[in-house]
Amino acid sequence: MHPLQCVLQVQRSLGWGPLASVSWLSLRMCRAHSSLSSTTCPSPERQEDGARKDFSSRLATGPTFQHFLKSASAPQEKLSSEVEDPPPYLMMDELLGRERKVYLETYGCQMNVNDTEIAWSILQKSGYLRTSNLQEADVILLVTCSIREKAEQTIWNRLHQLKALKTRRPRSRVPLRIGILGCMAERLKEEILNREKMVDVLAGPDAYRDLPRLLAVAESGQQAANVLLSLDETYADVMPVQTSPSATSAFVSIMRGCDNMCSYCIVPFTRGRERSRPVASILEEVKKLSDSPGFLAVMTLLGQNVNSFRDNSEVQFNNAVSTNLSRGFATNYKAKQGGLRFAHLLDQVSRVDPEMRIRFTSPHPKDFPDEVLQLIHERDNICKQIHLPAQSGSSRVLEAMRRGYSREAYVELVHHIKESIPGVSLSSDFIAGFCGETEEDHVQTVSLLREVQYNMGFLFAYSMRQKTRAYHRLKDDVPEEVKLRRLEELITVFREEATKANQMSVGCTQLVLVEGLSKRSATDLCGRNDGNLKVIFPDADMEDVNNPGLRVRAQPGDYVLVKITSASSQTLRGHVLCRTTLKDSSANC
Ligand code: 5AD
Ligand code: SF4
Repeated sequence: MHPLQCVLQVQRSLGWGPLASVSWLSLRMCRAHSSLSSTTCPSPERQEDGARKDFSSRLATGPTFQHFLKSASAPQEKLSSEVEDPPPYLMMDELLGRERKVYLETYGCQMNVNDTEIAWSILQKSGYLRTSNLQEADVILLVTCSIREKAEQTIWNRLHQLKALKTRRPRSRVPLRIGILGCMAERLKEEILNREKMVDVLAGPDAYRDLPRLLAVAESGQQAANVLLSLDETYADVMPVQTSPSATSAFVSIMRGCDNMCSYCIVPFTRGRERSRPVASILEEVKKLSDSPGFLAVMTLLGQNVNSFRDNSEVQFNNAVSTNLSRGFATNYKAKQGGLRFAHLLDQVSRVDPEMRIRFTSPHPKDFPDEVLQLIHERDNICKQIHLPAQSGSSRVLEAMRRGYSREAYVELVHHIKESIPGVSLSSDFIAGFCGETEEDHVQTVSLLREVQYNMGFLFAYSMRQKTRAYHRLKDDVPEEVKLRRLEELITVFREEATKANQMSVGCTQLVLVEGLSKRSATDLCGRNDGNLKVIFPDADMEDVNNPGLRVRAQPGDYVLVKITSASSQTLRGHVLCRTTLKDSSANC
């Protein structure tokens, strides 16, 4: 049996959810392997034999029932990466980084960027150093994405390059260790270890606290893995280390996982059940960031279903009040009740600093009750920008996707949002060529793009993922070339409509948060408007409304008023009028 299988089987047979005690037990099972004379894995038969033979002796020396009771009731902080009580066969200093240099590479969505910061925060506390130079690294960790086949192929290709680096490494240096973190580790588990023998460490999205131990095991030449999903891990007490401290924006993870089980999507399998971080810990992080020097202008609240947020950690709010969904929307799961909801969190976060813009991503259209829309409308610093992933414009396809709404309900929601938040900027995700999608279904999607006129769009060709409901129950029957042709058509229509939507800003004065120099021209600056659209304008002298008579140049993090003069599907152009503040701004559209 492979060490990983051995860990997985023990977990399965005991049926444990929470991480602490299970991963401790998995350590003890690894110990059985590490006591084998060879550092490479022995034959499966020998391993099974050995495991059976010394099972009773390990039982005698292993943790007691009380140990597990204690671990299960231990407060969250106990799980921290600052291991107080190392397992008996790993010395405390073996769990430390001993100044080994870690190179982290991130793939996929913003959640992965945040996960990279969490993983780094844990490793930094354990004494690792960070490097941005691949050649200098002792440990290379890839934070991976599984959402589409192409995302995974990129990682396989990268692993081949890294293999060469590992083989060429001079013997005078400590051996290079390579780790796969995140969704791909979770989805493929032992397949990665078997296919790519040079991968030393696998850590699923809920196992980052275990990284110091996994790397310590890898130091001894063995492969180490923890792909357990948790019901409650939110890394609430891990302050992510922001990778670019000069940036004008920060991301705060407020929830993890997804319970929606859309039929095409791997996320519920790789990131596990939906769970929200306690409001108090989110506010603490937001306040810390807002107080940190050199920062801050935009705070983005992150989650797989950010507006499905539900903090059940405070008993007094766990009443039987049922959930208000958007009209005409349903869930694939049993209705949840009580807890502090997204409107409450948004209200609290937006009060921390009236000059800090608040954004959130990625929401689900089912969770836009009126109180959330009202709040976005009335609070100046909550951006009037809503991502409303439609996925398809055909009710028949939406049903096959198990999205919980029809085209009509979605369109009604769009109208309701546009009425509730005048000037709102809308964006969406669409999938072309889902199982059973006909030309007529595709035409319906094209017509939805025309009807809504999104300002931004993220369009993908369907990529079949094992484990999903679509994989088991539906046929991936749209030929690749048809998927790509439909995707092209969606992109063309989206661009045409976005250009029209964005052109409505021409002649308006917009509040723009300056990010820095434009990538294309050294004489232009670049920033974002409230709708998150890029705005380019010449770097010129201007008045500061708070210091009349003073001429200033815009700096990153400044709010400026820009008169919009032209628009394309992705950018606005204009000229700067004055430097201002969010609360004093007199943007007119
Ligand atoms: N194939 C193509 N696109 C997908 N998405 C999710 N799963 C798949 C898949 N199997 C898209 C959806 C989702 C976005 C993050 O990725 O549009 O909203
Ligand atoms: Fe995937 Fe649907 Fe969950 Fe989004 S809501 S992460 S598409 S299952």
